[in-house]
Amino acid sequence: MKLRDTLKINALGHLEIGGADTVDLAAKYSTPLYVMDEAYIRNVCRDYTRLLSEKYPDSKIVFASKAFSTLAIYNIVKSEGLGADVVSGGELYTALKGGMSASDIYFHGNNKSREELDFAVREGVHAVVVDSEYEIELLNAVACEYDKKQKVLVRVNPGIDAHTHRFIQTTRPDSKFGFSVSGGAATEIIKTIRGKSNLEFTGLHCHIGSQIFELKPFELAVEKMTDFIASLARDGITVSELNLGGGYGVTYTSDDKPLKPYQYVDAVITKLKECISLKKIVAPKLVFEPGRSIVGEAGITLYTVGAIKDIAGIRKYIAVDGGMFENPRYALYQSKYDAVLANRATDTAVETVTVAGKCCESGDLLIENIELPQARSGDILAVFTTGAYNYSMAGNYNRNPVPPVILVNNGESEYIVRPQSYDDIISRDVVPLRLGENNK
Ligand code: LLP
Repeated sequence: MKLRDTLKINALGHLEIGGADTVDLAAKYSTPLYVMDEAYIRNVCRDYTRLLSEKYPDSKIVFASKAFSTLAIYNIVKSEGLGADVVSGGELYTALKGGMSASDIYFHGNNKSREELDFAVREGVHAVVVDSEYEIELLNAVACEYDKKQKVLVRVNPGIDAHTHRFIQTTRPDSKFGFSVSGGAATEIIKTIRGKSNLEFTGLHCHIGSQIFELKPFELAVEKMTDFIASLARDGITVSELNLGGGYGVTYTSDDKPLKPYQYVDAVITKLKECISLKKIVAPKLVFEPGRSIVGEAGITLYTVGAIKDIAGIRKYIAVDGGMFENPRYALYQSKYDAVLANRATDTAVETVTVAGKCCESGDLLIENIELPQARSGDILAVFTTGAYNYSMAGNYNRNPVPPVILVNNGESEYIVRPQSYDDIISRDVVPLRLGENNK
């Protein structure tokens, strides 16, 4: 358990977040419940922006909103001076409705539809990060229709093997993302873009993976990207923007020992400056796209313990009222989490248990083998570091409603995503008339 000013154990022995007692929150809002700590989010944003203004003013932090795309978060990160990266029409729509200026938005995706590109160009996003030849044709046609010259970054695969889960690595040679530098595909595509009437080649993008702790792969990416920038310069091609993605690791359990988020950016900037002077390239505008490091540790999820099943000599299951529908990360990546009994947070851990969800699926676990005090039905379980890629990857499996999200700050709490009702769940279901009898 990694506590901080806004995440601590109070005098009642309860877990407190953003000045709010989690036991009270569970009683007020019911469980399962996502809770986001506004102060934490703002602090991380401020650390990032302060560092950039000191070390590399021609730069921008854009929030990788896939980690947590809701109206309120765009509002918060915008007020902290951040832009946003979006990867779908839905995220773009949410970002704009959340008050983000189109000119602060980068539009990603390895297979954007014509409708999505139309939406992005029409709204005037700052740049489209292109990731296929197919997309270039579509985008040029769309930009032509609007009589605009659309800025374009090219997603590049610098070929780096970062140590993280296979599914969240993105720049191994075998990846659906990016154009490879070594094989020459990236150079070819840049030339193609430069030949298009309504596209303006502006720069390069790479993202080497997610939940990475070491600095080395990030520094290596800077070396490879600046080598590439230097080689393009020899061909007379200027790279005015370099977007280095996100990927900075956060603490899920005590085994995770990340640096502070801004320290990754700090090291990258130091390396970049070194490469710029060594390779004599023009300093590009620099962009970072952190997602997890901004919202991950800001979030916790509260559950109520229900059924407890002790299989003698095998395993003790503690079942909670959530599961893979609201946190699919164990099922997808065998992700590890830490948790406490929020109503008895000072009790000593006495047994090893497995926290199971309520979905009809054996793999629906939240935490395998965690040390906890002896849990009783009705206890409140708080799982840490659920702010990134939990709500955003939630669904209605088994027709479970997606839990609401509340924002806490200075002891106040309010919904930023309202509860979903059963009626909400069936609201888009339709029974065709021809089904007659059954159409009640
Ligand atoms: N930029 C691009 C182009 C990305 O693809 C990603 C993440 C980011 C930025 C932000 O990376 P971050 O700072 O959050 O690590 N669902 C997975 C994570 C997938 C990350 C995909 N791309 C998970 O739950 O761990």
